[in-house]
Amino acid sequence: MKKEGFSSQIGFILAAAGSAVGLGNIWRFPYLAAKYGGGIFLVTYFILMLTFGYALLISENNIGRMTGKSPVGAFRDLCRGRGFFGKIISGGGWVNAIVPMIILPYYCVIGGWVTKYVSIMFSTDISNFNNQAVSGAYFVDFITSPAEPLIYFLVFVIISALVVCFGVEKGIERFSKILMPVLILMIIGICIYCLFLPGAGAGVKYYLYPDFSKFSYMTVVEAMGQLFFSLSIAMGIMITYGSYMRREDNLVASVNHVELFDTGVSFLAGLMIIPAVVAFGGESAAGSAGPGLIFVVMPQVFASFPGGQIFGAVFFILVLFAAATSAVSLLETNVHSVMQELKLNRIQALAICLVEVFIIGVVTVMGYNILSNVHPLAFINGFEGKDILDTLDFISNSVLMPIGAIFTTLLVVAVIGLKKFCDEIRTPDKPWYREWVYRFCMVFIVIPCLLIVLLNATGILH
Ligand code: ALA
Repeated sequence: MKKEGFSSQIGFILAAAGSAVGLGNIWRFPYLAAKYGGGIFLVTYFILMLTFGYALLISENNIGRMTGKSPVGAFRDLCRGRGFFGKIISGGGWVNAIVPMIILPYYCVIGGWVTKYVSIMFSTDISNFNNQAVSGAYFVDFITSPAEPLIYFLVFVIISALVVCFGVEKGIERFSKILMPVLILMIIGICIYCLFLPGAGAGVKYYLYPDFSKFSYMTVVEAMGQLFFSLSIAMGIMITYGSYMRREDNLVASVNHVELFDTGVSFLAGLMIIPAVVAFGGESAAGSAGPGLIFVVMPQVFASFPGGQIFGAVFFILVLFAAATSAVSLLETNVHSVMQELKLNRIQALAICLVEVFIIGVVTVMGYNILSNVHPLAFINGFEGKDILDTLDFISNSVLMPIGAIFTTLLVVAVIGLKKFCDEIRTPDKPWYREWVYRFCMVFIVIPCLLIVLLNATGILH
């Protein structure tokens, strides 16, 4: 059977960028940037992206390309014959494979919320959303109702499953090649709209001007956590997509493009949302931003300014496109792992993965209604109020992802060896200007940063 893969370098770039650009960029990045001081968060994020994020992104893609395998198989192959230490490190493949299985169900629940908001923009006059109480109550009523979030969750899952069903080249590559350019055009359009709102200037200053007095170690910790989520690292995705990459394609150049896409979209997402929020509610509204930003505050913004209904529709379609290309990559990673480990065909593996998404997704949705009194981590200090979605997010992002990335770093540095690994990354006759950055980060930066994220999750640093 012909090995599945991307048909071109641009196909890989757009699919990997589609995976990276998602809710993380448009839903998570703006509220973190708003909450952690605007400009200073932006600067910290950029520095970490060019060092820590870059090193992990390139490592994962190369692990996939070297082995042609999903995370479990890739770690197993690369650790073979390396004794006891190799056996321990090969366990990292499982960590990287389990993370997307935890993330995907709740990602699809949020994807369902976005789908609902797209439908609202076409079916409801949003003018009365200009009031915090109305907009907030609408969102809470929706997510706590028993049936509606479930229906929208299923719609979102079906969209993602259909794309994955068509395979890598005809499904994922084609889907990303169409959606990514449209997404970029939409985000630029909304940015222009938001920047011209009366009072947006103060928000632009808040977002772009780094105020060093707002810097704290939490700025670094949150920026690192955001990098994981946003770049799709330690989720098995980049190993899987790397395994679909053609040997002759330039990995360094491709990763540079993915990095640029992802950072560019996060930057633009902040530029469209933060000035709009400040124009609407002042700096205090930005400083108190939270996960409800795009579902509660943005509808208020759109309801308050001319043309808001149309721009609101474009905004939520754009978020839907971004979420869908990422959900597809999460599902594809799970399907690929199940295909390789259980020796099943694509449709059989997809069916198993969908059952898993369905079960955990339904429980997550019920966490806001029937199971709203269930807080799985309530026995840990500080977690009393965490709902099921928050708990899944915490276990994957704050615990398993740093652990998975530590395994990846040890695999590269201590099992394969940096010299051999870099030789595999390089394309003959093509320059790799940041090779020294990569080597330096892999040896000195990545593991300490990951330990800080992990320690922060334990609460020791608070
Ligand atoms: N990288 C994806 C996102 O940002 C998962 O949403």
